[in-house]
Amino acid sequence: MQQITKVKALRSCVRDWHQQGQSVALVPTMGNLHVGHLQLVKQAKELANKVVVSIFVNPTQFVAGEDFDTYPRTIEDDLVHLQGIEPDLIFIPDVDEVYPAGLEGETQVLVPELDGIFCGAFRPGHFTGVATVVSKLLNMVQPDTALFGNKDYQQLLVIKRLVTDLCIPVEIVGVETVREKSGLALSSRNRYLSPQEKEVAAELHQALSGIAEAVKQGSEDYQRLEADAIAHLENKGFKTEYLSIRNASNLGEPTGEELVVLAAAWLGKARLIDNIQIRR
Ligand code: PAJ
Repeated sequence: MQQITKVKALRSCVRDWHQQGQSVALVPTMGNLHVGHLQLVKQAKELANKVVVSIFVNPTQFVAGEDFDTYPRTIEDDLVHLQGIEPDLIFIPDVDEVYPAGLEGETQVLVPELDGIFCGAFRPGHFTGVATVVSKLLNMVQPDTALFGNKDYQQLLVIKRLVTDLCIPVEIVGVETVREKSGLALSSRNRYLSPQEKEVAAELHQALSGIAEAVKQGSEDYQRLEADAIAHLENKGFKTEYLSIRNASNLGEPTGEELVVLAAAWLGKARLIDNIQIRR
């Protein structure tokens, strides 16, 4: 398991692999790895001959007032977790390597139709930061495949869209959300929940599952389903930012067979997001 911090060395390694006819998968992360991240790495190993995991806490996707400075940086533990799965290369660049011209004046990637809605409305600029860093990572590594979690559903759509629009030759694969037994989606930010809050937090997944089931059974009164779920969650102590049933491919009006119910809600100090895809 090779560790590399510089783009030049990374490129030379990946170029050798490609010359040998080996396929390459990339799993971008911000570290503080949990079983959800490791699932992406395991799946990457099934899809490609060589697997690169990047660990980079990307400053441009944190909005003012968010937890960039305190975001858990646990590189030693991360490497121990990864040893069990053995990806081929860990790319751990510093900020200057990823943003050599500084954070202010650099080219940005904006996906306008997805940038300002749902999470983007509450975290202005977040998805431009994500789209920019993922574009950079894809260009640095030039993988055949890159894997992302369905858990960050809007992020996954942003990435699929930028890859299509910018003609980047990579296949984007979405990986199923890994959950605790209670249904709570694993997340680095679950550490901000107290033990009691952690029990309550599972209600978010339950509320979304209830809606998914009702829609599958034929219910089409989406507004009432959304309003009832929000009222239930508020009653349990959540502060809901949004909870909405939308078209699964573009987050537009909920028409067609493929829908998604997605939500973001605060519980104490933790901002939780989750979603369930629904096929009618
Ligand atoms: P991070 O939050 O570290 O997540 C890295 C990848 O793990 C993302 O694709 C995310 O969707 C996935 N993931 C997180 N929790 C998961 C879970 N419970 N089950 C399955 N997959 C899960 O998302 C980011 O980093 C960043 O925005 C990044 C894409 C790396 C760009 O900086």
